[in-house]
Amino acid sequence: MLDHSKLYFGGDYNPEQWPKEVWAEDIALMQKANVNLVSLGIFSWAKIEQSEGVYTFDWLDEIMDLLDQGGIAVDMATATASPPAWLTLKYPSVLPINFDGVQLSHGGRQQYCAASSIYREKAAALVEQIAKRYAKHPAIKMWHVNNEYGCHAPYCYCDESRKSFVNWLKNHYASIEELNTSWGTDFWSQRYYSWEEIVVPKRTPDGTHPNPGQQIDFKRFSNDVTLELFKMERDIIKKYDPIKPVTTNFMSMKFTYAMDYFAWAKEVDFVSTDHYLAQHDIENHIDLAQMADLTRAFAKGKQWLLMEHSSSAVNWQPKNYAKIPGQEIRNSLSFVSRGSQGSMYFQWRQSQAGSERMHSSMLPHAGEDTRVFREVAELGAILAAHPEISSYETDKAAVAMVFDYEQIWAMMQANMPTDDLSYPDTVASWYRALYKEGIKVDFVPANADLETLKGYQLVLMPMAHMLTESEEKTFTDYATGGGNLVVGYFSNITDRTLRVKLGGYGGNLVKDVIGVYVEEYYPLREASIKLSNGFTAKLWSELSRLNGAEAIATFEGGDAKGSVALAKRDLGSSTAWYQGTELEDDSQRKFFSGICKELGIESVGGEHLEITKRGPFTFEIDNAKNTFKVTRD
Ligand code: GAL
Repeated sequence: MLDHSKLYFGGDYNPEQWPKEVWAEDIALMQKANVNLVSLGIFSWAKIEQSEGVYTFDWLDEIMDLLDQGGIAVDMATATASPPAWLTLKYPSVLPINFDGVQLSHGGRQQYCAASSIYREKAAALVEQIAKRYAKHPAIKMWHVNNEYGCHAPYCYCDESRKSFVNWLKNHYASIEELNTSWGTDFWSQRYYSWEEIVVPKRTPDGTHPNPGQQIDFKRFSNDVTLELFKMERDIIKKYDPIKPVTTNFMSMKFTYAMDYFAWAKEVDFVSTDHYLAQHDIENHIDLAQMADLTRAFAKGKQWLLMEHSSSAVNWQPKNYAKIPGQEIRNSLSFVSRGSQGSMYFQWRQSQAGSERMHSSMLPHAGEDTRVFREVAELGAILAAHPEISSYETDKAAVAMVFDYEQIWAMMQANMPTDDLSYPDTVASWYRALYKEGIKVDFVPANADLETLKGYQLVLMPMAHMLTESEEKTFTDYATGGGNLVVGYFSNITDRTLRVKLGGYGGNLVKDVIGVYVEEYYPLREASIKLSNGFTAKLWSELSRLNGAEAIATFEGGDAKGSVALAKRDLGSSTAWYQGTELEDDSQRKFFSGICKELGIESVGGEHLEITKRGPFTFEIDNAKNTFKVTRD
């Protein structure tokens, strides 16, 4: 468990990039800014193990003691995120191979294949050394395994990965026959007669793509094989330190997709996450809110912490705009209001050299007499003034939205009705509409159980393309048992093997429970189209008819003119809605606010004003006026 008596404040600390004379100043300035935690050693492998099996810890011993004396706790990293040059030179099989068969080089970071046995052996040896040496060090309050698993090379197509993938398949399918059925390999002569014939889904001839079942299983495998790495390191740490919590930092960002954090969250002692704004987006505070709410869902009652974000500009977007004065404090407080146990940054002191020298930090190149450092210190003081916040959870919402990483993997595939479909964009547009209407949302996974769903008055399901029979049944039981449900287009189209459910798109859930019979997809040729109730829609229409539901709106034009665009069905003690299109923002807002009014679901704040309650604390953050207020009942 994390300490409940404080909110954590600090960042990644890379003292190995600086001469020792700077360290004392670091600690003095950390104290000045109320820093109480730093993440140490994340990229220190080459400094700790300078040649194979020879470990050097004096510099780390020294800085750990200095931090401890300065009253600054340590989130101790395992240093395995970036293997040293000597390692990949001696063992090139560690380097990952990409989709095109090209081996990636040393010189960036995360240049390892998750299935590599040598990487595992060398990483395990390093963690063993670090955990043994520091388990009892008084500065350490938590452990930080690796860094952002799956960020740079989530998929490796080398032969060792292939073997590991085949073993994974053997554990997931009772027989090769079952695999053939699941992948539909009688299509294009893809049938396998033995496990050894199976390859990883590398690039295939132009205009063709690897088998969809093979692709999605490879993504599942890549998640699992990477999660095994985390568990390996965690278990080594636990041998030496069974008490202090172990985490690894997730990436809660709209376009990070490779790891299934609902699965990962079950393995960590507390969830930690990194979030960076899309800096060109003037409404990026909404994406931030969504990702904070999503992280709370991964954590599912466990504690969670914003482990990294930026004090100002990043260095990896096409245009790296600085944050405006005050923005950073709003951003941090929004995370805290939504449940984070503090606010941590990448990084403490801005690097002088290396590819992140243009990335902002808590202490900029220009030193402490700067806007950024003053704002950082102001935030540190605010968090230090309200340590009790850490012992409360963010209030539960009345509305839940389904989110599922596997839907991203399904929708990333080629050969869809239109290339314009984007699961993350559709989820974000539903969330944005709710945010602007002041309606709070919790996220739930697509495999949530009935009891979880029943805790919500309204459940929203945007583009849940794949649902198992039992998942479909759970949503059906929820809707027919008194729960209100909104299902979006292109949902429940296939089972989890990507085999289409026959007899009307959307399966029984859409055809029989809600009562809309969907025959065919008509992606829109028009940029925007009018619906009969005055709403506007984009991207999508479908040829459909009523099968028990009542129409709210039909398409007024386009190829599917006259078909059902929006429908609802009175199920007695509840209502179910279907959206057979992608509503434009204003219409989506009206649609959801209408439903929430009908159901008596409260709206608080809205537009750019977020009002969030965490126990007795109310956070009021106005993202347009650039103001914030934290009050206690
Ligand atoms: C994260 C990473 C940090 C730093 C940061 C820059 O992805 O964990 O080490 O690179 O991005 O924004």
